[in-house]
Amino acid sequence: MTNNNPIGVFDSGIGGTSIWSAIHDLLPNEKTIYLADSKNAPYGQRTKEEIVALSKKNVDLLLDLNCKLIVVACNTATTNAIVELRASYDIPFIGIEPAIKPAANNSKTQVIGILATQGTLNSELFNKTAEMFQHTTIIEQVGHGLVQLIEDGNLYSPEMTQLLDSYLQPMIDANIDYLVLGCSHYPYLIPQIKKILPEHIRIIDSGEAVARQTQNVLREKVGFTDEQNSDPVFYVNSNPEVLKSILDYKFPVIEKDF
Ligand code: DGL
Repeated sequence: MTNNNPIGVFDSGIGGTSIWSAIHDLLPNEKTIYLADSKNAPYGQRTKEEIVALSKKNVDLLLDLNCKLIVVACNTATTNAIVELRASYDIPFIGIEPAIKPAANNSKTQVIGILATQGTLNSELFNKTAEMFQHTTIIEQVGHGLVQLIEDGNLYSPEMTQLLDSYLQPMIDANIDYLVLGCSHYPYLIPQIKKILPEHIRIIDSGEAVARQTQNVLREKVGFTDEQNSDPVFYVNSNPEVLKSILDYKFPVIEKDF
Protein backbone atom coordinates (compact mmCIF):
# COMPACT_ATOMS: atom_id res chain seq x y z
CA MET A 1 0.00 0.00 0.00
CA THR A 2 1.48 3.35 -1.06
CA ASN A 3 0.33 6.78 0.12
CA ASN A 4 2.35 9.87 -0.77
CA ASN A 5 0.30 12.34 1.26
CA PRO A 6 2.02 14.03 4.22
CA ILE A 7 1.88 13.15 7.91
CA GLY A 8 0.40 16.07 9.90
CA VAL A 9 1.81 16.94 13.32
CA PHE A 10 0.56 19.67 15.66
CA ASP A 11 1.33 21.06 19.08
CA SER A 12 0.38 24.15 21.07
CA GLY A 13 3.76 25.50 20.03
CA ILE A 14 7.34 24.48 19.35
CA GLY A 15 7.58 21.59 21.86
CA GLY A 16 6.08 18.97 19.57
CA THR A 17 9.14 19.31 17.34
CA SER A 18 10.74 16.89 19.85
CA ILE A 19 8.17 14.32 18.67
CA TRP A 20 8.40 15.43 15.04
CA SER A 21 12.14 14.87 15.09
CA ALA A 22 11.76 11.28 16.36
CA ILE A 23 9.27 10.66 13.51
CA HIS A 24 11.54 12.29 10.93
CA ASP A 25 14.53 10.21 12.12
CA LEU A 26 12.60 6.94 11.87
CA LEU A 27 10.72 7.74 8.66
CA PRO A 28 13.00 10.18 6.77
CA ASN A 29 11.25 9.73 3.42
CA GLU A 30 7.80 10.64 4.67
CA LYS A 31 6.60 14.18 3.96
CA THR A 32 5.65 15.96 7.20
CA ILE A 33 3.73 19.14 7.95
CA TYR A 34 4.12 20.63 11.43
CA LEU A 35 1.78 23.22 12.93
CA ALA A 36 3.00 25.24 15.90
CA ASP A 37 -0.02 26.99 17.42
CA SER A 38 2.29 29.28 19.40
CA LYS A 39 -0.26 32.11 19.30
CA ASN A 40 -2.55 30.08 21.57
CA ALA A 41 0.14 28.53 23.80
CA PRO A 42 0.13 27.43 26.51
CA TYR A 43 -2.80 25.01 26.21
CA GLY A 44 -2.04 23.66 29.68
CA GLN A 45 -4.14 26.17 31.62
CA ARG A 46 -7.08 26.20 29.20
CA THR A 47 -10.43 24.48 29.67
CA LYS A 48 -11.12 21.15 28.02
CA GLU A 49 -13.62 22.87 25.66
CA GLU A 50 -10.98 25.37 24.54
CA ILE A 51 -8.41 22.62 23.99
CA VAL A 52 -10.90 20.59 21.90
CA ALA A 53 -11.78 23.67 19.79
CA LEU A 54 -8.11 24.60 19.21
CA SER A 55 -7.25 20.99 18.34
CA LYS A 56 -10.09 20.84 15.79
CA LYS A 57 -8.90 24.09 14.21
CA ASN A 58 -5.43 22.56 13.79
CA VAL A 59 -6.83 19.31 12.40
CA ASP A 60 -9.00 21.19 9.87
CA LEU A 61 -5.93 22.94 8.48
CA LEU A 62 -3.92 19.69 8.31
CA LEU A 63 -6.80 18.01 6.47
CA ASP A 64 -6.96 20.95 4.01
CA LEU A 65 -3.28 20.21 3.41
CA ASN A 66 -4.15 16.57 2.55
CA CYS A 67 -2.59 14.84 5.54
CA LYS A 68 -3.02 11.07 5.66
CA LEU A 69 -2.50 10.69 9.40
CA ILE A 70 -2.35 13.17 12.28
CA VAL A 71 0.03 13.04 15.22
CA VAL A 72 -1.18 15.06 18.20
CA ALA A 73 2.32 15.94 19.46
CA CYS A 74 0.96 17.45 22.65
CA ASN A 75 0.08 15.61 25.86
CA THR A 76 -2.41 18.30 26.85
CA ALA A 77 -4.31 18.08 23.55
CA THR A 78 -4.15 14.28 23.54
CA THR A 79 -5.44 13.81 27.07
CA ASN A 80 -8.21 16.41 26.64
CA ALA A 81 -9.25 16.11 23.01
CA ILE A 82 -8.24 12.88 21.27
CA VAL A 83 -11.50 11.09 22.10
CA GLU A 84 -13.47 13.96 20.49
CA LEU A 85 -11.09 14.10 17.51
CA ARG A 86 -11.43 10.38 16.83
CA ALA A 87 -15.20 10.69 17.05
CA SER A 88 -15.34 13.70 14.69
CA TYR A 89 -12.91 12.84 11.88
CA ASP A 90 -12.41 9.84 9.67
CA ILE A 91 -8.60 9.80 9.76
CA PRO A 92 -6.19 7.94 12.07
CA PHE A 93 -4.85 9.93 15.05
CA ILE A 94 -1.79 9.14 17.13
CA GLY A 95 -1.51 10.85 20.48
CA ILE A 96 1.04 11.16 23.25
CA GLU A 97 0.46 10.55 26.90
CA PRO A 98 2.89 10.63 29.82
CA ALA A 99 4.82 7.33 29.77
CA ILE A 100 3.72 6.11 33.22
CA LYS A 101 3.81 2.44 32.25
CA PRO A 102 7.53 1.95 31.48
CA ALA A 103 8.45 4.08 34.50
CA ALA A 104 6.16 2.25 36.95
CA ASN A 105 7.09 -1.19 35.61
CA ASN A 106 10.82 -0.58 35.88
CA SER A 107 10.97 1.48 39.05
CA LYS A 108 12.87 -0.16 41.92
CA THR A 109 11.85 2.38 44.52
CA GLN A 110 8.23 2.25 43.32
CA VAL A 111 8.20 6.04 43.43
CA ILE A 112 8.11 7.93 40.13
CA GLY A 113 7.77 11.60 39.26
CA ILE A 114 5.66 13.11 36.49
CA LEU A 115 6.18 16.64 35.26
CA ALA A 116 3.30 17.76 33.00
CA THR A 117 0.85 20.58 32.42
CA GLN A 118 -2.17 21.20 34.61
CA GLY A 119 -4.45 20.23 31.70
CA THR A 120 -2.77 16.84 31.37
CA LEU A 121 -2.64 16.05 35.09
CA ASN A 122 -6.31 17.02 35.56
CA SER A 123 -7.55 15.05 32.56
CA GLU A 124 -9.72 11.98 32.83
CA LEU A 125 -7.47 10.03 30.44
CA PHE A 126 -4.35 10.65 32.54
CA ASN A 127 -6.08 9.79 35.81
CA LYS A 128 -7.50 6.57 34.40
CA THR A 129 -4.03 5.47 33.33
CA ALA A 130 -2.49 6.48 36.66
CA GLU A 131 -5.10 4.42 38.54
CA MET A 132 -3.81 1.29 36.83
CA PHE A 133 -0.54 1.61 38.77
CA GLN A 134 -1.78 1.47 42.35
CA HIS A 135 1.45 -0.21 43.52
CA THR A 136 3.48 2.85 42.51
CA THR A 137 3.59 6.21 44.23
CA ILE A 138 3.24 8.80 41.49
CA ILE A 139 4.41 12.29 42.37
CA GLU A 140 2.62 14.68 40.05
CA GLN A 141 3.99 18.14 39.48
CA VAL A 142 2.56 20.85 37.24
CA GLY A 143 5.35 22.57 35.32
CA HIS A 144 3.90 26.07 35.87
CA GLY A 145 5.67 28.60 33.66
CA LEU A 146 7.98 26.19 31.81
CA VAL A 147 6.14 26.14 28.46
CA GLN A 148 5.88 29.94 28.39
CA LEU A 149 9.62 30.33 29.02
CA ILE A 150 10.39 27.85 26.21
CA GLU A 151 7.97 29.60 23.82
CA ASP A 152 9.63 32.92 24.67
CA GLY A 153 13.06 31.47 23.83
CA ASN A 154 14.24 31.55 27.45
CA LEU A 155 15.41 27.95 27.68
CA TYR A 156 18.60 28.68 29.55
CA SER A 157 17.43 31.51 31.80
CA PRO A 158 18.08 31.65 35.58
CA GLU A 159 14.29 31.68 36.03
CA MET A 160 14.10 28.31 34.24
CA THR A 161 16.78 26.80 36.49
CA GLN A 162 15.00 28.13 39.56
CA LEU A 163 11.60 26.72 38.51
CA LEU A 164 13.05 23.33 37.60
CA ASP A 165 14.88 23.14 40.88
CA SER A 166 11.72 23.89 42.86
CA TYR A 167 9.73 21.21 40.93
CA LEU A 168 12.36 18.47 40.99
CA GLN A 169 13.87 18.78 44.48
CA PRO A 170 10.75 17.42 46.26
CA MET A 171 10.75 14.45 43.88
CA ILE A 172 14.41 13.73 44.61
CA ASP A 173 13.65 13.94 48.34
CA ALA A 174 10.78 11.46 47.86
CA ASN A 175 13.24 8.96 46.30
CA ILE A 176 11.99 8.77 42.71
CA ASP A 177 14.10 6.69 40.34
CA TYR A 178 12.18 7.66 37.17
CA LEU A 179 11.12 11.10 35.96
CA VAL A 180 8.47 11.08 33.23
CA LEU A 181 8.39 14.15 31.00
CA GLY A 182 4.67 14.47 30.31
CA CYS A 183 4.81 17.47 27.98
CA SER A 184 6.39 17.53 24.53
CA HIS A 185 8.11 20.84 25.32
CA TYR A 186 10.10 19.36 28.21
CA PRO A 187 12.65 17.19 26.30
CA TYR A 188 14.33 20.51 25.42
CA LEU A 189 14.97 20.92 29.16
CA ILE A 190 16.84 17.61 29.56
CA PRO A 191 20.33 19.22 29.76
CA GLN A 192 19.18 21.49 32.63
CA ILE A 193 17.20 18.69 34.30
CA LYS A 194 20.26 16.42 34.24
CA LYS A 195 22.23 19.05 36.14
CA ILE A 196 19.67 18.89 38.95
CA LEU A 197 18.86 15.16 39.13
CA PRO A 198 21.25 12.63 40.69
CA GLU A 199 22.66 10.34 37.96
CA HIS A 200 20.68 7.22 38.91
CA ILE A 201 17.31 8.86 38.12
CA ARG A 202 16.19 7.96 34.60
CA ILE A 203 14.34 10.45 32.40
CA ILE A 204 11.62 9.14 30.08
CA ASP A 205 9.85 10.90 27.24
CA SER A 206 7.51 9.58 24.58
CA GLY A 207 9.14 10.65 21.30
CA GLU A 208 10.49 7.31 20.10
CA ALA A 209 7.38 5.38 21.15
CA VAL A 210 5.20 7.79 19.14
CA ALA A 211 7.47 7.43 16.10
CA ARG A 212 7.24 3.62 16.27
CA GLN A 213 3.47 3.81 16.65
CA THR A 214 3.32 6.12 13.59
CA GLN A 215 5.32 3.56 11.62
CA ASN A 216 2.95 0.76 12.69
CA VAL A 217 -0.16 2.69 11.68
CA LEU A 218 1.35 3.56 8.30
CA ARG A 219 2.25 -0.10 7.76
CA GLU A 220 -1.12 -1.47 8.83
CA LYS A 221 -3.68 1.13 7.78
CA VAL A 222 -2.44 4.12 5.81
CA GLY A 223 0.52 3.27 3.58
CA PHE A 224 4.12 4.51 3.34
CA THR A 225 5.32 6.97 0.71
CA ASP A 226 7.36 5.67 -2.22
CA GLU A 227 9.04 9.06 -2.68
CA GLN A 228 12.40 10.00 -1.16
CA ASN A 229 13.80 12.73 1.06
CA SER A 230 10.71 14.87 1.29
CA ASP A 231 11.43 18.22 2.94
CA PRO A 232 9.33 18.98 6.02
CA VAL A 233 7.09 22.06 6.14
CA PHE A 234 6.69 24.06 9.36
CA TYR A 235 3.87 26.55 9.93
CA VAL A 236 3.77 28.86 12.94
CA ASN A 237 1.27 31.59 13.81
CA SER A 238 3.46 33.70 16.13
CA ASN A 239 7.10 34.25 17.02
CA PRO A 240 8.76 32.34 14.09
CA GLU A 241 12.31 33.04 15.30
CA VAL A 242 11.97 30.72 18.29
CA LEU A 243 10.79 27.83 16.11
CA LYS A 244 13.61 28.47 13.63
CA SER A 245 16.18 28.42 16.40
CA ILE A 246 14.84 25.21 18.02
CA LEU A 247 15.17 23.62 14.56
CA ASP A 248 18.78 24.87 14.37
CA TYR A 249 17.86 26.90 11.25
CA LYS A 250 17.91 23.65 9.23
CA PHE A 251 14.38 23.89 7.81
CA PRO A 252 12.24 26.68 6.38
CA VAL A 253 9.54 28.04 8.68
CA ILE A 254 6.42 29.68 7.23
CA GLU A 255 4.49 32.25 9.24
CA LYS A 256 0.76 31.79 8.72
CA ASP A 257 -2.40 32.87 10.46
CA PHE A 258 -4.42 29.88 11.65
N1 DGL B 1 3.48 20.64 24.49
C1 DGL B 1 2.30 20.48 25.20
C2 DGL B 1 2.14 19.21 25.95
O1 DGL B 1 2.72 18.24 25.54
C3 DGL B 1 1.47 21.60 25.63
C4 DGL B 1 2.02 22.57 26.57
C5 DGL B 1 1.10 23.73 26.74
O2 DGL B 1 0.76 24.33 25.73
O3 DGL B 1 0.75 24.02 27.87
O4 DGL B 1 1.42 19.13 26.90
